[in-house]
Amino acid sequence: MKKADLIVAGCRQLLTCAGGPKRREAMRDVGLVENGWVAAHDGRIVFAGTEAEFRRTVEPDAGAVRVDGNGLVGLPGFVDSHNHLPFAGSRDEEFSLRLQGWTYQQLAEKGLGIKTTVRATRRATHDELLTACLHRLDQMLLHGTTTAEAKSGYGLNLEDEVKQLQVVREADRRHPIDLVPTFMGAHDVPEDYLSRKEEYIDLLIHKILPAIRHQKLARFFDVFCEKGVFSVEESERLVQAAAEAGLGIKIHADEFMPLGGAELAVRVGATSADHLIAVTDAGIAALAASDTVATMLPGVSFFLMQEKRAPARKLIDAGAVVALATDFNPGSSMTESMLFILELGVFTLKMSVEEAINAATINGAFALRIQDEAGSLEPGKKMDLVLWDIPNYIHLAYHLGVNPVAHVIKNGRLVVKDGRPCYSS
Ligand code: NIG
Ligand code: FE
Repeated sequence: MKKADLIVAGCRQLLTCAGGPKRREAMRDVGLVENGWVAAHDGRIVFAGTEAEFRRTVEPDAGAVRVDGNGLVGLPGFVDSHNHLPFAGSRDEEFSLRLQGWTYQQLAEKGLGIKTTVRATRRATHDELLTACLHRLDQMLLHGTTTAEAKSGYGLNLEDEVKQLQVVREADRRHPIDLVPTFMGAHDVPEDYLSRKEEYIDLLIHKILPAIRHQKLARFFDVFCEKGVFSVEESERLVQAAAEAGLGIKIHADEFMPLGGAELAVRVGATSADHLIAVTDAGIAALAASDTVATMLPGVSFFLMQEKRAPARKLIDAGAVVALATDFNPGSSMTESMLFILELGVFTLKMSVEEAINAATINGAFALRIQDEAGSLEPGKKMDLVLWDIPNYIHLAYHLGVNPVAHVIKNGRLVVKDGRPCYSS
């Protein structure tokens, strides 16, 4: 018999999302168990399945905590595999300009956009940035996210990139959500290097990257491969240096222009290629034949009010591992909520509810290469479980604009109860 110190008893529906990463038809399988039970020991799952199997194989400790799943739907916590968490300031004024007809690119050409947030983030102290991050992480957790990536990229110099990543490290220590840090010094060319981009690339490779490596501040490296930012050749040089420094690779690829970022991602063995709004058929074919996750960020087309959408259907049907993430940032996707992104995946990318759920959990975990730790309810993984107050899982996408999170269990600890946080950070 397996010992358990935490039991979640009798969920109306339990979705294990087991067996990923998932492609094609497998993305439609959410591992549904009616009247599902979950047991954990020391923060790790020891069992997820039917009541009969539970009674046969699990022996709860005398003092085991019991959470009643009656009437609730249980899912693995969401894995938000792409976001720009540690930023300062706000872009509400630029949002108002966009509502008057300005485009995101026009604002960027005026020295606004990412550069506005770089100015604010450089001005912010470590503590100010940390406070902002902890508030945002609270929002993420309240909406069902239990693991999140976090990118730097609003410092664009040694001091402020390090500051952002040190804040991420501290936030990871303090907050229940587990964070995976990504160094994105190649998010933009800073204002004082605009006429000497090569020098900035050298600074990234020879100064900032070694410092990040020395302090072990990042697990991944990311680059904005886009017209007017970093070309395919420049991106390749950067990711090769990052790979040599031991970092995994992620690429902001084919977001606005089809430069071939997806093909580059596959060629260099990147963990993921993200955005892909403008990806070509060749890029889709390359992704489908690889382990590079195609990460959809539907918050961006929605937030920028663009008709053009990432071809999620084509990617899934071709056999790519497709994930969904928030891209949470102040300029192009101002939301912490993976639930909202799941809804956008269904409504704007024509994903089925099942595909969107797998994309937001197990495939997101694969996009961070933590699929052995998170993203599904399987023995050995972290006990990260969200209980939703809905009649069945279809309501995640069907009932819009509400937050039906009832309880969140993170690493075996009840951290949200009846929709309210019950932890201190
Ligand atoms: O993922 N594409 C580049 N970076 C962000 C936007 C950042 C910003 O506008 O501040 C993105 O969309
Ligand atoms: Fe992004």
